[in-house]
Amino acid sequence: MQNKLHKGQYDPAEDTFFLEDCIKNEKGKSALEIGTGSGYLTKVLERSFDFVVGTDINLDVLKNQTYASQNLLCCFGADAINLQFDLVICNLPYLATDEILDIATDGGKEGLEIPLQIIKSAIPSIREGGKFFFITSSLSNFTKLVEETNKMGLKARIFATKKLFFEELIVVEAVK
Ligand SMILES: C[S@@+](CC[C@H](N)C(=O)[O-])C[C@H]1O[C@@H](n2cnc3c(N)ncnc32)[C@H](O)[C@@H]1O
Repeated sequence: MQNKLHKGQYDPAEDTFFLEDCIKNEKGKSALEIGTGSGYLTKVLERSFDFVVGTDINLDVLKNQTYASQNLLCCFGADAINLQFDLVICNLPYLATDEILDIATDGGKEGLEIPLQIIKSAIPSIREGGKFFFITSSLSNFTKLVEETNKMGLKARIFATKKLFFEELIVVEAVK
């Protein structure tokens, strides 16, 4: 993952496009993207879902989206949402870091701290039988991320991987 900040926005990158590949054939009534950033993936969801919501913790990012969407909320994860969605997606801030210096990319220790908080926040917003796709990296503790997601009551598995020069991107599918 590269840090590509422009007004705090994370521009679409290889992880964005890999998650797009994994979710582009999903269909349903409603979908939520947590950490919408530029809005690129939220727009992809709008092609296949009737009702789409995007959240981001960074208000400036939401105000300056390159791919502007209509239903946006500034909050942590899905904390401000009282609705359940067929599909939830998140290109997590998954980098393993000692501190959170860049909110777009830094995941904290082992790349687990922020991702686990976001996953916990997302669970009430997934309908029974609904899916949650999120992305992590071989440079983070992805095995523990999957285990902890299972402990939170989802059925999580590695859905797809993609080798990059210096890491492997990992998309996890978690079913409620
Ligand atoms: C890796 S970027 C992904 C951006 C975009 N979805 C994409 O795939 O290109 C992560 C995004 O999540 C947002 N974010 C970070 N922590 C968050 C949190 N706790 N709740 C909501 N959004 C968060 C960041 O501001 C950033 O826009």
